[in-house]
Amino acid sequence: MKLSIIGSGYVGTTIAACFAEVGHDVVNVDIDEDIVASVNDGDAPIHEPGLDELVEKHAGDRLRATTDYDAILDTDATFLALPTPSEDDGHIDLSIMEAGARSVGRTLADKDGYHLVVTKSTVVPTTTEEVIAPLLEDESGLELGTDFDIGMNPEFLREGSAVSDFLGPDKVVLGSQTDRAAALLRDVFDPLVERAGGPPVVETGVREAEMIKYANNAFLASKISLANDLANICKEYGIDSEEVLDAVGLDSRIGSAFLGAGVGWGGSCFPKDVAAIVAAARDAGYEATMLEAAVEVNDRQPVRMLDILREHTDPSGARVAVLGLAFKPGTDDVRNSRAIPLIDALLDAGADVVGYDPVATENMREHFPDIDYADSAADALAGADAALVVTDWDEFAALDDEFDAMTDAVVVDGRSIVSRRDGIVYESLV
Ligand code: UGA
Repeated sequence: MKLSIIGSGYVGTTIAACFAEVGHDVVNVDIDEDIVASVNDGDAPIHEPGLDELVEKHAGDRLRATTDYDAILDTDATFLALPTPSEDDGHIDLSIMEAGARSVGRTLADKDGYHLVVTKSTVVPTTTEEVIAPLLEDESGLELGTDFDIGMNPEFLREGSAVSDFLGPDKVVLGSQTDRAAALLRDVFDPLVERAGGPPVVETGVREAEMIKYANNAFLASKISLANDLANICKEYGIDSEEVLDAVGLDSRIGSAFLGAGVGWGGSCFPKDVAAIVAAARDAGYEATMLEAAVEVNDRQPVRMLDILREHTDPSGARVAVLGLAFKPGTDDVRNSRAIPLIDALLDAGADVVGYDPVATENMREHFPDIDYADSAADALAGADAALVVTDWDEFAALDDEFDAMTDAVVVDGRSIVSRRDGIVYESLV
């Protein structure tokens, strides 16, 4: 089939390359000429394991990129994979999606025959039906349900494993309003589903598909917050929370994934999506108490790290090493990293902060241009009065003699990763 993908961000580029891999002819439309040139040269514009290989393999053949929206005219379906950033009050900002929908609509005015427009971006329920569809109709002059249809296909890609998550999904969710759209979406996903060994395909409505994405992320984020709440109780009683949560995870009704207690969840998705669904619920007259509590627990974890530090040393004037700046290991992404509120709190308390991350330093420098950054964990620890571990990079588990160079070796471990050893005052956050 012929597919057009609007947006060459992390989702757009990944799905474009993966759709090409399963046999579709794909054109990726983006306004950024450098990104377009990069894809056409066979270079992935973002770093994701396995993506470079796919872009290199299919560029110039089943995958091409362009800045020209007219490219969608020659395709069967268009996927909107554009960013939906957060506003200050938690609502999502739809301006980029709306601009994309207008451009697609204007282009579809020249379309000969039926077309399907699918929302891939994470949007709150009813957005595709009540915002995207009217824009497409107005700009194209076409009739929804006759000349074209809308669909919704949420993505469950994790940063760092986006390609393997796409090609080996736990489930495929296809939201549509008409039989024709449902059949076309099935055709798009059949080769992927077959290749992936037949994961469940959930055929549902458009607003249900939108909600499934939020429910998924809200559930995972809440699961971590619940693990953190329980682990905090364990800490008060001197109980090993890891042993407790490992045992709890063995219950097949619960499962062990996303029970990793610690300094909490960050990234570009969980914080944004939980805030957006809480805000959308409130607009609809419902107070999402559980989700609000999940956010509150998450906000408290970095503060608890500082409280634990205070039990051992006064942060004011102390040199404090923050180990790990990325929101999770395997990425240089610092968006909503738990290191940000932690460093803010340390600076407020008068600490002299030195940060270290194997790959995320440059991105964190944009948030905190004035703190020190070290080139290695050993350098960060040398002369430090305390170390706070925020990201579970493997290299922090291997730290040993490096702690000897600390002035006062207080270690507060937000990811329960550092090995306990003589010579350090070790406290796990949970
Ligand atoms: C998340 C979801 O896992 C994807 O399914 C979803 O598609 C994506 O958001 C999205 O909406 O685009 P991602 O943000 O890449 O993916 O990161 P995760 O691997 O889910 O981790 C999120 C945060 O939770 C990280 O800060 C991580 O350190 C934290 N976490 C994760 C824990 O604190 N404990 C755990 O047990 C697991």
